Amino acid sequence: MIIDVITLFPEMFSSFLQSSIVNRAIKAAAIDVKFTQLRDFGIGNYNQVDDYPYGGGAGMVIKPEPVYQALQALDFQQNKRPVIFFTPQAPLLKQTDVNRLCQTEQLIIICGHYKGIDQRIRDAYVTEEFSIGDYVLTGGELPAMVFIDAVARLQDQVLGDMESALTDSHQDGLLGCPQYTRPAIFNQMKVPDVLTSGDHKKISQWRQEKAWELTKRIRPDLIDE
Ligand code: ADE
Repeated sequence: MIIDVITLFPEMFSSFLQSSIVNRAIKAAAIDVKFTQLRDFGIGNYNQVDDYPYGGGAGMVIKPEPVYQALQALDFQQNKRPVIFFTPQAPLLKQTDVNRLCQTEQLIIICGHYKGIDQRIRDAYVTEEFSIGDYVLTGGELPAMVFIDAVARLQDQVLGDMESALTDSHQDGLLGCPQYTRPAIFNQMKVPDVLTSGDHKKISQWRQEKAWELTKRIRPDLIDE
């Protein structure tokens, strides 16, 4: 899977891409993350990429031309690649979106900054928009990393354990169940007996019950869905 990221701050991604499962995905050639520096498509002697919002107000808006030029440099219309933009003004990114998009061979992510990007780019060229939560970040780089992490761990060469991925929180619409590891007693707290019983049927039943209880208590909205 080739992920092209259009950003002003590619350096933000470096330690992320060099660590853990994402790094394994890159080394296994399951994903390839490439960067396009938006500044290279800036306008004039100062490579301007942002400008004041029409109608006034605080903050700057990313100009449409540099983004369009960057998209064109990536030949974005070839193969109908998804063009993803992260913004708080969008539906929440869900595991179902990640499951779907992790199967695409190539996609482009545009990272906004400041007040966002000119709406005309969003209207005409962005194909999918997602928010990663109801709060405002300084830019789209962290959401892009969240997305890359979520798709990288689903590339089967990487995880080597599809069962693990399929039993994660959200894969069945519920939160995951509590997890324990050794020692069996830690600071006087004991692991639930069922988990050390060796009875796989009971363990599986316990996990389902716990997942249900936890979801009902913490995220009743998921159960309504
Ligand atoms: N850009 C800024 N804030 C964001 C958010 N919460 N989700 C996605 N993109 C963003």
